[in-house]
Amino acid sequence: MQDILAEIGRLKKDRRAVILAHNYQPPEVQDIADFSADSLELAKYSMSIDAKIIVLCGVRFMAEMAHILNPDKIVLLPDESAGCPLADSITPEDVRKLREEFPDAIFLAYVNTSAAVKAECDICYTSANILDVISKLPKDRKLVVLPDKHLARWVREETKREIIIWGGECPVHKAIDEENILKMKNLSPLSAVMVHPECREKVVALSDFVGGTGGMIRFAKTTGYSSYIVGTERDMCHKLKREIPTKNFLPANEEAVCQDMKKTNLLKILHTLQTLEYQILLDVDIRERARRTIEKMFSL
Ligand code: 13P
Ligand code: SF4
Repeated sequence: MQDILAEIGRLKKDRRAVILAHNYQPPEVQDIADFSADSLELAKYSMSIDAKIIVLCGVRFMAEMAHILNPDKIVLLPDESAGCPLADSITPEDVRKLREEFPDAIFLAYVNTSAAVKAECDICYTSANILDVISKLPKDRKLVVLPDKHLARWVREETKREIIIWGGECPVHKAIDEENILKMKNLSPLSAVMVHPECREKVVALSDFVGGTGGMIRFAKTTGYSSYIVGTERDMCHKLKREIPTKNFLPANEEAVCQDMKKTNLLKILHTLQTLEYQILLDVDIRERARRTIEKMFSL
């Protein structure tokens, strides 16, 4: 183990590489990363660093974002097969068909979509900024919020806007149900409940806070509870404990585990630094069109 860490450290220096990790990564990966955060912060941070190589410990759409925003850097995904079933629930062809159906609508692509889907949409968003993004859009336009049906329904309730919903969902957040929350509330009645907007409606209804993983950290830092029930991927609790060691964090459901996020481990990080496998490369036209969709989000 010490040998692996020493070799990762040596190669990082030699190759001018930086390791970024999403908040759902296995604890040992979060612990050795140079920076760990939510999907929006990872994307922003990737643009601020002076590195030749970015090792993106997360899933493919996150590595694609880093590549789109940093075409001159080498972006590596340690496990080539780390994908996202929610992102896979919609294709560029689906978006083109929806455009024919709703020609006047504004198309919003969640960060959890492929670059090719982003390229077909107007504006990108994440769970951290969707309400802000929508508040800046013309009031008289319909919005197509892709692809998560639970998140889009929550957005419709929060904004009272006319929103067209696609049928995608995340299997990890779907695994969290109201019984899980009620059981945890019973065990720990004074805990606050934080849930991700990808959770089902009945779970959201039982929560004290709805937001992305970065929002959860801010909520836990700025509220006075000593304990929180966390309605998202299990290893988010590791991130929260690292950030706020004086408080308790209880997973709403221990089995809410993103298998794709768990494909990364220290040996694969070492392998990617040794071999430069697997580099993210995109068709330049798709990359540039996706970049416009992402830049629109930053400009708002
Ligand atoms: P965040 O945008 O909150 O990091 O979440 C990403 C994700 O994959 C949620 O399932
Ligand atoms: Fe995709 Fe769900 Fe995993 Fe997030 S938790 S990366 S939405 S499968």
